[in-house]
Amino acid sequence: PRSIFFSRHGESQFNVEGKIGGDSGLSERGLRYATALPDLIKDNIGDASLTVWTSTLKRTIQTAQDLPYTKLTWKSLDELDAGVCDGMTYEEIELAYPEDFANRDDDKFNYRYRGGESYRDVVLRLEPIIMELERQENVLVVGHQAILRCLYAYFHNLPQDDLPYIKIPLHTVIKLTPKAYGCDEERYTLPI
Ligand code: F6P
Repeated sequence: PRSIFFSRHGESQFNVEGKIGGDSGLSERGLRYATALPDLIKDNIGDASLTVWTSTLKRTIQTAQDLPYTKLTWKSLDELDAGVCDGMTYEEIELAYPEDFANRDDDKFNYRYRGGESYRDVVLRLEPIIMELERQENVLVVGHQAILRCLYAYFHNLPQDDLPYIKIPLHTVIKLTPKAYGCDEERYTLPI
């Protein structure tokens, strides 16, 4: 049976600084994840074929750089666009836009950043990605937190209200194997 693998990019410079969005490169730790990822995947699938999908952002491309498989870059896999809040910390957002911050907390799925996107918007933009994922054999998606929450919720049939809170930790590969109903899941965390 074919599997779909999800991994967030390795820890980025912005992750370290607590800033959202942006297009920063990986931290030292993130680079160690990128270096360790090929063996983790190889130990799992052996000589089976695999296609690696990344976003157009530096941190996913860097995370995939040592993987010896065919790679595809998708603009629609880019992280949720935080609009005017891009590059800010949550503390800075709360100070600058207290009402927005509260509204997001009230309804995280529907909250749309000024000049940016909501989770609902992202679910819509991921439709073609999901259609293609359904048709493919083994795929590894090297993505972003919000993006992987949407894809994960789709394959596990999780409700919209829970979707923005799904835990997708860094430095962890999530393996989904679709069955007749639902998916089997395994997780592999690299202690780096
Ligand atoms: O902090 C990393 C990040 O991927 C941000 O770029 C993004 O805005 C955020 O996570 C999404 O998570 P949340 O919706 O919980 O703020």
